[in-house]
Amino acid sequence: MIHPLTPIYTPRLVLRCWRQADARLLKEALDSSLDHLRPWMPWARDEPSTLDDISVRLARFARDFQEGRDFIYGIFNRDQTAVLGSIGIHPRHGPQDREIGYWLRESATGQGFISESTAALTTVAFATWPLETVTIVCDPDNRRSATVPARLGFACQGTFPTKNGAPDRDLDLVWRTSRSAWALRPPIRVPALH
Ligand SMILES: CC(C)(COP(=O)(O)OP(=O)(O)OC[C@H]1O[C@@H](n2cnc3c(N)ncnc32)[C@H](O)[C@@H]1OP(=O)(O)O)[C@@H](O)C(=O)NCCC(=O)NCCS
Repeated sequence: MIHPLTPIYTPRLVLRCWRQADARLLKEALDSSLDHLRPWMPWARDEPSTLDDISVRLARFARDFQEGRDFIYGIFNRDQTAVLGSIGIHPRHGPQDREIGYWLRESATGQGFISESTAALTTVAFATWPLETVTIVCDPDNRRSATVPARLGFACQGTFPTKNGAPDRDLDLVWRTSRSAWALRPPIRVPALH
């Protein structure tokens, strides 16, 4: 079974497979950001969860990762003392594509962290599997989310009837990059390490 790389070190972040022991840090990140997440992440409407529930959820994420079903990473600061968000590579569009989904805690927005994480994970996805494409799907009204693939040079495919059971929208805005387009993209700028 092929697994994508974990941990992944980017200039400012560590992306790694969740562990049950991250429950306290994840709960703190989620509880700090409920109003920010709820409009766009349907599961956030059921938050806050107990520490025990989050711990069970993280055990499931870790199992899914180890067993090759789904690959959800925590996004941490470099010393891994804080959860900044989460990002996943999901097999949703057939064997030659992977979809990337993400969220950030509110206090971590506006600094390029998701663009940095998405760029790293796209490179890892193409390096791990013989994919043709990597896809990002968002609500057409989610301007901040759509800006991420646009910034990274993904091509907008347009809007399509919603898939994956999003409960409160009819349309998906779909972005996609191909292996060859990704290999030829200009490098993104990230601040130097201090
Ligand atoms: C979607 C979401 C992750 C985007 O977060 P974000 O902070 O806007 O995205 P990035 O981390 O890439 O940061 C980009 C911002 O940082 C700024 N920035 C600063 N340094 C940067 C750098 N080195 N590289 C890129 N951008 C940088 C950009 O100018 C941009 O600022 P702006 O929003 O004022 O234009 C966040 O809004 C979120 O969690 N939303 C709720 C959940 C959600 O919608 N998830 C997606 C569902 S499809």
